[in-house]
Amino acid sequence: MPDSVRDLRVYDSVLETIGWTPMIRLTRVTRGIRTPVWAKAETFNPGGSVKDRIGMPIIERAERDGSLKPGGTIVEGTSGNTGVALAIAAALKGYKCIFTMPDKMSQEKVRLLKAYGAEVVITPTAVPPDHPDSYVMTAKRIAHETPNAILANQFYNQANPDAHYATTGPELWEQTQGRITHLVAGAGTGGTITGAGRYLKEKNPKIQVVCGDPVGSILAEYWRSGGTNKIEGVPYKVEGIGQDKIPDTLDLRLIDEFQTVSDREAFAMARRLTREEGLFAGGSSGLLAHVALSVARRVNDPDACVVTFLCDTGERYLSKVYNDEWMRENQMLDVEKVTLGHLLDVKGERSPAGVISTSPGATVRQALRLMSLHDVSQLPVMDGRNCVGSVSENVLSVRGLEDVKVLERTVGDTMDSPFPVVDADHAMDAIVKLLSKSNPAVLVREKGEIRGIVTRSDMLHYLMAR
Ligand SMILES: Cc1ncc(COP(=O)(O)O)c(C=O)c1O
Repeated sequence: MPDSVRDLRVYDSVLETIGWTPMIRLTRVTRGIRTPVWAKAETFNPGGSVKDRIGMPIIERAERDGSLKPGGTIVEGTSGNTGVALAIAAALKGYKCIFTMPDKMSQEKVRLLKAYGAEVVITPTAVPPDHPDSYVMTAKRIAHETPNAILANQFYNQANPDAHYATTGPELWEQTQGRITHLVAGAGTGGTITGAGRYLKEKNPKIQVVCGDPVGSILAEYWRSGGTNKIEGVPYKVEGIGQDKIPDTLDLRLIDEFQTVSDREAFAMARRLTREEGLFAGGSSGLLAHVALSVARRVNDPDACVVTFLCDTGERYLSKVYNDEWMRENQMLDVEKVTLGHLLDVKGERSPAGVISTSPGATVRQALRLMSLHDVSQLPVMDGRNCVGSVSENVLSVRGLEDVKVLERTVGDTMDSPFPVVDADHAMDAIVKLLSKSNPAVLVREKGEIRGIVTRSDMLHYLMAR
């Protein structure tokens, strides 16, 4: 780490370490995408989530308005992370905490809150939000019945979006040096997207705010219908984002686009973030990264800058997203048949112009230059529409070093056998055997035309992503 980045401060309490989380470029899951995608790693907050930012501001506002007095109790309906944030702040301020939580939440989250000394009350998930047994209504009742208690009320408390306006927004702006063009966030209470989105739009009204929403949440449809269609929510497995009601802390006018994502897509991307980028994050981060990649693919502009969040740590989901048994039981793991055509779509290379090739008449020098220019290790040799041979950087550079005259010989003289041609609807798994040591790639044919190339390295990435 360079000296200028080392943090030499000594902090007075863990609360001072909240915020200024690192911004990390996604480089592996973004292969083939030209638009930069950055992730703000909220997992680096001491409580492991973006919610750490709102714990203290909520408590301090209640102290200021006189509703919370020394020795008091903080009550909240929370899916876990807000509980941790409040519990950290309460521990340092000497308050007691009681949290209510729907029963779909991870056991890790319940244990974690108890570790901080909080009391946890579990409520049923499958009840409407206004049902007396819902986690929100239960929290309200407990706050009402407990002396000297406040309801943190993150869904109504404006201290929540205000905290993101004061911290998350400015950090995003400064860390991107004003380059940010798209913010991809989720909405649980809407605090993050509202506070950060408002700040960024004040800085630059052209910034697009995109909300990732789980299938089953009512938010996307409510927004798309201009606030006229409030559908019935359906349970989903992603935790922390999406809603079955419209929170007061969410300002839908700041959102330019909604994208709806399934649990399966969200969890698959969370696992890829961990395995390919080394970023251990929960399902909601997977959902947001899935949306960020889709926005980046569509924008297709190296000068744009898509920024999203790693909202909370994967440790909170070891018994779910990162547990193959749970994933299988919930039909999240039996991977659909992925075809070669699908992979080309993901790589963004499904076009006749997508295959970089050389011709038999080109010189070895030209072929090597072409490979270096496009950062590829092999090329098909095309004679019109037919693949008549192949060349690889490895082989050509060895031959060129042995005898420099080889560089002026034609590719036709020196090429190896052609890459196999496979139809686009073939399953990826079916071509593993074709990608042997002597054969680094296959060409993909669709409607009689060569549409793309799948290399050993593409296959490796595909297998790792599984
Ligand atoms: C797990 C989790 N909790 C909370 C949030 C933030 O939600 P909000 O600020 O809308 O409550 C997110 C995502 O942004 C999340 O993934």
